[in-house]
Amino acid sequence: MKSHGRKSIRATLKPSSLMDETAPLAGVWQARVITLFPAAFPGVLGESLTGRAMKDGLWQLHTHDLREHGLTKHRNVDDTPAGGGAGMVLRADVVGPAIAEAQSHARGRWPILYMSPRGRRFDQAMARDLARCDGVTMLCGRFEGVDERVLEAFGITEVSLGDFVMTGGELAAQAMIDATVRLLPGVLGNAESAVDESHSAGLLEHPQYTKPAEWQGRTIPEVLMSGNHAKIAEWRREMSEKITAERRPDLWARHKGE
Ligand SMILES: C[S@@+](CC[C@H](N)C(=O)[O-])C[C@H]1O[C@@H](n2cnc3c(N)ncnc32)[C@H](O)[C@@H]1O
Repeated sequence: MKSHGRKSIRATLKPSSLMDETAPLAGVWQARVITLFPAAFPGVLGESLTGRAMKDGLWQLHTHDLREHGLTKHRNVDDTPAGGGAGMVLRADVVGPAIAEAQSHARGRWPILYMSPRGRRFDQAMARDLARCDGVTMLCGRFEGVDERVLEAFGITEVSLGDFVMTGGELAAQAMIDATVRLLPGVLGNAESAVDESHSAGLLEHPQYTKPAEWQGRTIPEVLMSGNHAKIAEWRREMSEKITAERRPDLWARHKGE
């Protein structure tokens, strides 16, 4: 098991140097990731806001190397699909012990998620719910996926990043952890509030502009330069509704209560 980030870490350390053994901090949100590729972590999570929050001890990341639970001297983790067909399937007697190891650290409300294109599509509501948990264990599949029995035995929830197929669950896990960690108390400063952004109130965000006031002949909408905060808020709400209605009729219908 590898752990990433802790309160006492030196600020100069690069994300890849955060791979010290770290004692779980009581009350700190944890992600436990079961993967064949622990070197892929913290990955992008070690950068910017999520990386800083990890160094500050606002959340913790632990990876569990599936290979360590491999069988025989070759540490095999997979085998051919029962019933035939292409590819390989991760074995229940390899994945099971890895999950049991990860769950031995779990406390309180702590779901086990399997990154899977068959799962419920991840969204902001799920990120909000995960942020209210004490932690999460994420199982990253590879090859053709995982023996179904292990999913049943641990009551694992399948969650998808979207309707496409990736080669492994690691990117999905990083995306879901990123979306969750930025909702944890203290991670976003006031300047980066999650209150007024896409999906926070079921709408997409209004357009954003910054300096220069004119770029390649294009100007910033006048209302944003007016200093009239009520008018600016009204314009932003109108644009937010217009963009949502145009781009995401499904979200718009839900917002209108249809
Ligand atoms: C090649 S995929 C397996 C796809 C599986 N045979 C199927 O058809 O549903 C290998 C692994 O990548 C991960 N994966 C692929 N696409 C994903 C997605 N959209 N969301 C989350 N995880 C995904 C899963 O962990 C999966 O076990």
